[in-house]
Amino acid sequence: MSGDSETSESVSLSRDWRERLSVSRDLGTGFAAPGGEFTRALYEWALTDQGGFLKDLLAGRRVVELGAGMMPYGYALAATCGARNFVAVEPFYADKQSLSLSTFTGQPGQSVPRIPYKVKDQDMLAYLQEEADDLLCVVACGIEDCILPGADYRARVESEIRRVLEPDAFFLSSHSDLYPKDLKTVEITYLRPSKPKVRDRLRLHGAKDAFERYGDRIKDLLV
Ligand SMILES: C[S@@+](CC[C@H](N)C(=O)[O-])C[C@H]1O[C@@H](n2cnc3c(N)ncnc32)[C@H](O)[C@@H]1O
Repeated sequence: MSGDSETSESVSLSRDWRERLSVSRDLGTGFAAPGGEFTRALYEWALTDQGGFLKDLLAGRRVVELGAGMMPYGYALAATCGARNFVAVEPFYADKQSLSLSTFTGQPGQSVPRIPYKVKDQDMLAYLQEEADDLLCVVACGIEDCILPGADYRARVESEIRRVLEPDAFFLSSHSDLYPKDLKTVEITYLRPSKPKVRDRLRLHGAKDAFERYGDRIKDLLV
């Protein structure tokens, strides 16, 4: 690619992002902050020996990622871990999320297994309010307070996460300020596989059944 086309591509990406940010400001349901590296880091960690325990947590689950961004790493995480299916909830980049998922799953020779998936063009609160009780395993990466519209919205999301969580499943919260109050929580840190100088933080929030089922696996990872 020539320098000129790189420049015009980055100018148009920046314009696209500003437009999406302006739309999100008007809607008042969150901010179209461009995706970070957070979901990707969690996926790459799941491929390591230490992070491989995520496979136990996600296998057979209905996995939902809140604020999935533009990239296919939430799907890659769920599919690699043997999840039953995957939903990407993304109100501001749903078009890009859909495109990246179809490109990723359609790659010839793709080694990540195929699982059913959906992209939901909704904000996380609206999405969760439509879900049934006790069914899901929820993932959120990079959902810090500055992304969401305010403390009241965050508290309502936290209470919905508690309601929809399958009793023996965890809410996986990586670099995220979402923190359901009435679940037990443990925090794990790990070195990011692609940038070993960066330490990533993952919190697991779960009810008694989740800790009874997976407590021994998690104990080994706690510092
Ligand atoms: C920092 S990015 C993280 C993206 C991705 N998880 C990653 O780590 O690359 C935050 C994402 O949350 C989305 N977002 C903002 N408000 C939201 C809301 N109310 N519900 C769901 N997603 C939201 C943004 O559009 C953005 O894609």
